[in-house]
Amino acid sequence: MIKVGIIGFGTVGRGTYRILQENSSIIKERTGLNIVVKKIAEINPDRIKDYDIKKEILTHDAYELIEDKDIDIVVELIGGITLAYDYIIHAIKNKKGVITANKALLAEKGGEIFSLAARYKVPIGFEASVCGGIPVIRAVKDGLVANRITDIMGILNGTSNYIMTRMAEEGKPFREVLKDAQRLGFAEQDPTYDIEGIDAAHKLCILISLSFGCKIKLHDISVKGISGIEPVDIEFAREFGYKIKLLAIARHDGEELEARVEPAMISVSHPLSSVGDVFNAVYIVGDRVGPTMFYGKGAGSEPTGSAVVSDIIDIGQRIISKAEPHTFKGITFTKKIKIKESEKGFVPFYLRFTAQDKPGVLSQVSGILAKYSISISTVIQKGRKENGYVPIVMLTHEAIEGDLKKAIKEIDKLPFIKGESICIRIEERLN
Ligand code: HSE
Repeated sequence: MIKVGIIGFGTVGRGTYRILQENSSIIKERTGLNIVVKKIAEINPDRIKDYDIKKEILTHDAYELIEDKDIDIVVELIGGITLAYDYIIHAIKNKKGVITANKALLAEKGGEIFSLAARYKVPIGFEASVCGGIPVIRAVKDGLVANRITDIMGILNGTSNYIMTRMAEEGKPFREVLKDAQRLGFAEQDPTYDIEGIDAAHKLCILISLSFGCKIKLHDISVKGISGIEPVDIEFAREFGYKIKLLAIARHDGEELEARVEPAMISVSHPLSSVGDVFNAVYIVGDRVGPTMFYGKGAGSEPTGSAVVSDIIDIGQRIISKAEPHTFKGITFTKKIKIKESEKGFVPFYLRFTAQDKPGVLSQVSGILAKYSISISTVIQKGRKENGYVPIVMLTHEAIEGDLKKAIKEIDKLPFIKGESICIRIEERLN
């Protein structure tokens, strides 16, 4: 019998509990494990009230279960950094198996946590920390272990993908769709982490550490969110055969690692372009396997609970068979890697200027682009408003991002340009 303590009975805690109760026979049949929830630490009674849970297994004090000699596995599902960190460190020192869904904590303090776990020889499960129900951590650690991974491209945040999908389908502006999403419960009341790309960057940190066996911090990743995207850009993208997605990208060229999260255009023929609504997907290229893609629900009670339970089973089997913790060394978080400066990126771009409609405008804009060696592949001016403002859209050939930014800064100072111009990278490298 494997005895589990759950800290936090929020959305994921409840999903985990339900799966353990309702699918216990299939779990037993497949794995031989009898998993029992021995304690639940939760301070909010509202979260418990709909569940038939015996009083004696409930506690307000997480340390009660971390100190319980009978508990084999501690599952941390409270999120946040400070308390969760203390609980996990304490559980490791008490030689418990530890499971966490806490991407922010692993992105920030993963190195320390994994070194301590190795020292105490305890296993850590974190399948639920990246893309909820999609078993992508296990895919990298097990299924793809024979490969040198070269590229990761993912839609790692469901909230922003939902917003971008609604904007594309309904032509509504970002703020309006965000409000709708909050009302419907698809976006948090404080959506900053999701819409500004931080949540995706935390997940990318974990995938990078696993895939490239290196140490990376959030500030090594160039991060830009979706709040600057307008319906007009989505519409132009469609005309050019692209969709705009918040993409998390990691690419190792043998020398440097490029790591970024930002809205980018991808061809409608790329499998990631059809990933809509709250769904997540991760496209991973290995040197032997070629391209692979993993798709599913990246959040939610039972999808994320399904990942937590898979970790409970994995660790439970190790405990029963008295095996050493997972020997995968990829997640050392210690090997240094050279991070490519984001300004050195070399891809095609979509540019949108809002310019006065009069003779000579295009030649001045293209003159500045030429000065920075940026070659234009397509130009569109929609509508005609003599001396009024119209959108001018350009696609460039591959250009150095730093040069492009300098050119845009100069263009935005021209007297006939209104506001800040829009610049979105076009990701064609993995088509
Ligand atoms: N808030 C995340 C998302 C799920 O919207 O995808 C948890 O990481």
